[in-house]
Amino acid sequence: MKQKLIVGNWKMNGSLAAHQALVQGVLAGLQGLHVQAAVCAPAVYLASLQTLLQGQTALMGGAQDVSMHEVGAFTGEISAAMLREFAVRYVIVGHSERRQYHGEQDAQVALKAQRALSAGVTPIVCVGETLAERQAGRTEEVVKRQLAALIHTNGHCISEIVVAYEPVWAIGTGLTATPEEAQQVHHVLRQQLKAATAHADAISILYGGSMNAANALTLLQQADIDGGLIGGASLKVPDFLAIMAAASHCAQAS
Ligand code: 13P
Repeated sequence: MKQKLIVGNWKMNGSLAAHQALVQGVLAGLQGLHVQAAVCAPAVYLASLQTLLQGQTALMGGAQDVSMHEVGAFTGEISAAMLREFAVRYVIVGHSERRQYHGEQDAQVALKAQRALSAGVTPIVCVGETLAERQAGRTEEVVKRQLAALIHTNGHCISEIVVAYEPVWAIGTGLTATPEEAQQVHHVLRQQLKAATAHADAISILYGGSMNAANALTLLQQADIDGGLIGGASLKVPDFLAIMAAASHCAQAS
């Protein structure tokens, strides 16, 4: 089995000192684990992250958003090329918090992914349904629509992205999709990717939404769950490392 990808999304938490301590703690505990790992920091901390991660490849740096524009008069925006200057390997795009609080639409999210790819940064594109959409039986329709926009804009480059399935109702709520519920949606996404590229099996599809040390193993054991995008639990070194250990166990058990 390919190594799982475990990504921490620190969102707008902590301080510079707290971030530095987190990175150092994760780096120290990561040694010997069979896992790909990354942390997505607030943009203002990317320079510090670059320095802390220099000279090693066990933990990669990531950002939480990127502009859909290449360059120009877009006050407050950060371009993909700028992220690249700080050795950013991954960038989260289309997180449900961006869609919900900043009105991001599927087409913008797809453009952001395209900008990231052009600059050599791997986009982690989030899809997921709200509670109302799930209760209305619209989960598949919603995630397929979100992924279709991405495929439409990015064409064969779709094989270079990472997808994250994050049911909105499971984010920060303590509610997790059951492993079976998550696997079902991941399978739908995999089939859609297979229709678009011959390399769909190589695309990592991460699960996100209240993943923690206790539930990580059973989620990560599902056939189409290739890793996790972790919010709250990635802010505590022992919890984050426990998730990585579960991922490492899966890679070794296969
Ligand atoms: P939680 O793990 O806190 O539910 O957050 C998930 C998430 O939004 C990661 O991007």
